[in-house]
Amino acid sequence: MTDARTDALPDLISPSLLSADFARLADEVARVEAAGADWLHVDVMDGHFVPNLTIGPPVVAAIKRVTRLPLDVHLMIDNADRYLEAFASAGASTLSIHVEAVPDARATLDRIRALGLRPGVAISPDTPLSALEPVADRLDHLLVMSVYPGFTGQSFLPQSTERVAAARRMLSAQPRTITIGVDGGVGLANAAALVDAGASLLVAGAAIFHAPDCEVALRALRAAATRAS
Ligand code: DX5
Ligand code: ZN
Repeated sequence: MTDARTDALPDLISPSLLSADFARLADEVARVEAAGADWLHVDVMDGHFVPNLTIGPPVVAAIKRVTRLPLDVHLMIDNADRYLEAFASAGASTLSIHVEAVPDARATLDRIRALGLRPGVAISPDTPLSALEPVADRLDHLLVMSVYPGFTGQSFLPQSTERVAAARRMLSAQPRTITIGVDGGVGLANAAALVDAGASLLVAGAAIFHAPDCEVALRALRAAATRAS
């Protein structure tokens, strides 16, 4: 994998379980797995870094037991360093921290890699992309936030497409394979432009789980992403 470049990656779809019916989580996972999801996106919020509370390692472990898909765990928490082992034990494949939320992101990313996981950073809409420079050589994954983190169902921030393109340019010199994901308000209206801009992973919550038929919605999203040039 070390010689591959970001532009060699296929398009990936990661349904965000934050929009799923938590009372039927195993069924929701099975539905998107059957519809061809590549990863599952799991949003962890602590009520401090973001103004919402969601789930922690026991629920991640429970999801892991009912799927073969890689778990793409997005930590929106303070003190992330305290919980890395717990999310590794729970079965995360990719573990993303917020670049704004840890005192020494390089060290945290190195610890995530040492645990055998793919290290990632998420970057919030108002954070300059220059914040990525110190960590660029430590990343397997970048998550460009296209909403302010905290809630599903928000509107896509249009400047995010250019931020994806700029991030792609910034990371193109890195020898490591780096997935560039986009998270927040992603749907049919922006999927193709995001892939054209350099996104290799589309995270989508409401666009999949709040659709009348989530399998149809997921396949349509993939088709839109694949039609991008
Ligand atoms: C927002 C989360 C997102 C969110 C995506 O803080 O990180 O993953 O669940 O949901 P939609 O696609 O509905 O914006
Ligand atoms: Zn997320």
